[in-house]
Amino acid sequence: MQRAIALSALILLAGWAQAEIPAAFQGADLKLGERLMVEHKCNQCHAQKWGRDGLDIYRPKGRINSSSALMTMVEACNTDLGLGLFPEDVAAIAAVLNREHYHFSK
Ligand code: HEC
Repeated sequence: MQRAIALSALILLAGWAQAEIPAAFQGADLKLGERLMVEHKCNQCHAQKWGRDGLDIYRPKGRINSSSALMTMVEACNTDLGLGLFPEDVAAIAAVLNREHYHFSK
């Protein structure tokens, strides 16, 4: 019985901790996203046009204003550049960008 209570408390806490993360990014593989961004040199290319090692391109106050717009943008880069990323790769990258730059909660 006590175990059940402890368990439900844990589940509640876990739900609460994730509340700030958009549904599309829950369970995303952040380590995979980080690796893919290095592998595909996302920031190197952005850095040629934008300052700060390419990080200035990520503009949370720009035209990308939601997690789904962010997913669409990463998907567009994927298609344009012919990267051949799977949907879960795109979600993982978008989740990393969201954690570090955009901070959308939905
Ligand atoms: C060959 C160059 C190049 C590479 C490689 C590249 N991008 Fe981009 N990216 C661009 C350009 C150019 C823009 C600006 C497009 C615009 O503003 O219309 C852009 C814009 C973006 C934006 C929108 C930023 C904002 O807030 O407006 C995101 C997000 C993004 N790229 C993600 C990625 C990711 C993730 C990767 C790696 C998988 C990647 N890009 C690889 C050239 C590149």
